[in-house]
Amino acid sequence: MQVFHSKKELRNSLSSFNTKNHTIGMVPTMGALHQGHLVLVKRAFLEHNCVVVSIFVNPTQFNNNDDLRKYPNTLDKDVQLLKTISDKIIVFAPTANEIYAGKIKSNSYQFNGLDTLMEGKFRAGHFNGVATIVELLLNAVMPDMAYFGEKDFQQLQIIKKLVQIAAIPIKIRGCPIVREPNGLAMSSRNERLSEEARKNVGFIYKILKSAKKKFGTKSAIYTIHWVQNQFKKKPDFKLEYFQITNIDTLTPVLRKQKGKKYRAFVAVYIEGVRLIDNIALN
Ligand code: PAJ
Repeated sequence: MQVFHSKKELRNSLSSFNTKNHTIGMVPTMGALHQGHLVLVKRAFLEHNCVVVSIFVNPTQFNNNDDLRKYPNTLDKDVQLLKTISDKIIVFAPTANEIYAGKIKSNSYQFNGLDTLMEGKFRAGHFNGVATIVELLLNAVMPDMAYFGEKDFQQLQIIKKLVQIAAIPIKIRGCPIVREPNGLAMSSRNERLSEEARKNVGFIYKILKSAKKKFGTKSAIYTIHWVQNQFKKKPDFKLEYFQITNIDTLTPVLRKQKGKKYRAFVAVYIEGVRLIDNIALN
């Protein structure tokens, strides 16, 4: 399997794929790969004959240094895991200086409010960091299509907006959330939980599914209060936010409107680990 650390070597290798008979699918990641990532890679393989997986822990999207320091770096293990899908996968694992060309700093984007709520509100600067690195990675790889998980639904909407405003000619594909058997959305952060907590966190998805049912017959406000009360009864869980939004604008919904699509979003701390999840409501 080919692993490239430099843009130039990557481009040399990909130049043969930029023809009519080949298309390139790309899966940007920060490594510490799990089944949630692998499903995106498999999907990309179904739709393209060349697949590039980027592995880069992006410093500009971390608003908390401790979180960045604790982020696992497991390149060798990740490469072995990708090999179980295909040894034709191309891995792009640049250094920060290589991908940022020496200037490790975020750009400032206008996302029309998509970036100010939820993750944007609680993680200042996060989405400018995400958009900056995704723009750099897409320009380095130049894929036909890039794959992102609905696990980070707000990120997915922001990246769709990014390719529009930066006029990057590629398609963005969103893929469903992959969950553990108890419903916990897969995430590299789950590894930080104790065995006990890992069993209990199935509660988050259980509440999301109940919220979906409630939202079928009750108002958004009622559903939000109901969810907040359920978390109050669980002292191990510290709810940061629970929000119901319109899926396109991500603005909070107070009153349901016919024909609009809604989604519920949650961020919760357990044992000091911040977990996020979301669910389609209709
Ligand atoms: P990372 O957290 O490694 O996630 C890489 C991709 O995998 C993202 O699109 C994410 O939504 C998807 N993913 C993670 N867990 C998933 C799950 N359980 N089900 C479905 N998809 C899942 O997201 C990032 O990295 C970074 O912000 C990045 C976009 C790479 C920019 O640095």
